[in-house]
Amino acid sequence: MVEFKAATETAGGAVLAVPVFGDRIWGPGAEAAADAIGGDLDGQFDIAKFSGKLGQVAIIQGPAGAPFTTYAFVGLGDEADSETVRQAGGWLARSVSRLEEVSTTIHLIDVEGAAAAFAEGFVLALYRFDKYRSEPEPAKVETLFFVGEGAPAAKQAADAVWPGILGAMLTRDLINEPANAKSPVTLAGVAAEVAEEHSLRIRVYEPNEFAEERFGALAGVAAGAHNPARMVEMWYEPEDPKAFLALVGKGIVFDSGGLSLKPAASMEDMKTDMSGAAVMFGAMKAIAASELPIKVLGIAPITENMPGGGATRPGDVLIPRNGTSIEVLNTDAEGRLVLADGLSLAAEHEPDLIVDIATLTGACHVALGDKIAGLWSNDQEAADQVLKASARTGERLWQMPLPADYRKAMDSDIADIKNISGGRYGGAIHAALFLEEFVGENRWVHLDIAGPARWTEEEHYQRKGGSGFGVRTLLALAEDMSRG
Ligand code: BES
Ligand code: ZN
Ligand code: ZN
Repeated sequence: MVEFKAATETAGGAVLAVPVFGDRIWGPGAEAAADAIGGDLDGQFDIAKFSGKLGQVAIIQGPAGAPFTTYAFVGLGDEADSETVRQAGGWLARSVSRLEEVSTTIHLIDVEGAAAAFAEGFVLALYRFDKYRSEPEPAKVETLFFVGEGAPAAKQAADAVWPGILGAMLTRDLINEPANAKSPVTLAGVAAEVAEEHSLRIRVYEPNEFAEERFGALAGVAAGAHNPARMVEMWYEPEDPKAFLALVGKGIVFDSGGLSLKPAASMEDMKTDMSGAAVMFGAMKAIAASELPIKVLGIAPITENMPGGGATRPGDVLIPRNGTSIEVLNTDAEGRLVLADGLSLAAEHEPDLIVDIATLTGACHVALGDKIAGLWSNDQEAADQVLKASARTGERLWQMPLPADYRKAMDSDIADIKNISGGRYGGAIHAALFLEEFVGENRWVHLDIAGPARWTEEEHYQRKGGSGFGVRTLLALAEDMSRG
């Protein structure tokens, strides 16, 4: 894994990365780099089509005798902020991943937290999921040096991003893993490893306990699956906590739709339907590693959604832990079912805030696209708290409404609620209103990450596949709540 270090101006090395703003306006260190290279740099930039836009990186060979072998001019665009700097770090990493040592002067730009954001984007972009490839091509970078004035402070600031990075990478790994390698038992085992590593208390409920624990909705979703389900409950309990947060993540290791079977094409990405649980694991890991003074309860109902002989049928009624009976009219709306048990369990502990995170609805994906998650809340202050945290991490959230009068579309003929509205519109909203039934009087925020849980293109610090979206925002939220 990459190490961050401080170096002096005269250090020299394989590559020096310097920031350039739009229209080739030099950032700190860029003019000195240009002087070291000499000659017609503008001509070289023209050929490379480099103007300083975000996403552009121009790699220019240094002349013999120059302190660095190559120079990387990193575009930041016209207005840099911590997210564009994070993205620039990712773009740079993509073009220097074959080098062992990379130096930069990025920390000298006038953006708060630039060193940390750049380092974060840089390392996140070097991520690979290649355990199933015969010829893996791991990134070779070993050290990112901050060079010149303020380098020691930059190194120190960069070191603070490790918990979030490691949490997000665990989450990415779990999402990318194929469903045949992440049974509920295996995933619960990963939770146990995280717990072991960070001294968390963990309880894993097994199917023979579901009846007694009244996990009737999880049991109903699991009924058609061959592999047994699990309910994971983990606790981070530091001394003298300033707040109490509960995280609940949807853990469907494969969503076939159940008897309301999905068409084949819609199933292709459904190994990622456990992203919420994976985000909960990653966030617990990051929060514990940061030793934040906040009590955190992590809950993940984990199962496959399969159409086996014992499967729940459309029309069946399930009774989740809080007793609100549910008529299941579509077995593909299973996320809200397992979350009914997970949220009921969280609600009993009366935390200051419950946040659930789930790849819940195709409708949210349609509404907000691939890169923005939907946010719902029964408390505007809580919503603002989460939105504020996400503004620092670059993970984009958009608040959606929770209109009480829409609830009646889920009135059931025979039970307290049915699990679909029956209509075509507002699917993500109905799902959120369904979840609200299980949080009691608690302050609650629901995040639907059906879009951004998986990144669909190679760009900046994201790699195609599991994104880890949510981990850094939940960490930032826990940081804020830790201040009391
Ligand atoms: N896991 C899906 C939602 C999903 C779809 C996530 C696409 C990511 C990408 C969820 O369980 C589901 O199937 N929801 C249904 C609900 C419907 C039956 C009311 C949906 O969105 O179509
Ligand atoms: Zn489904
Ligand atoms: Zn699902």
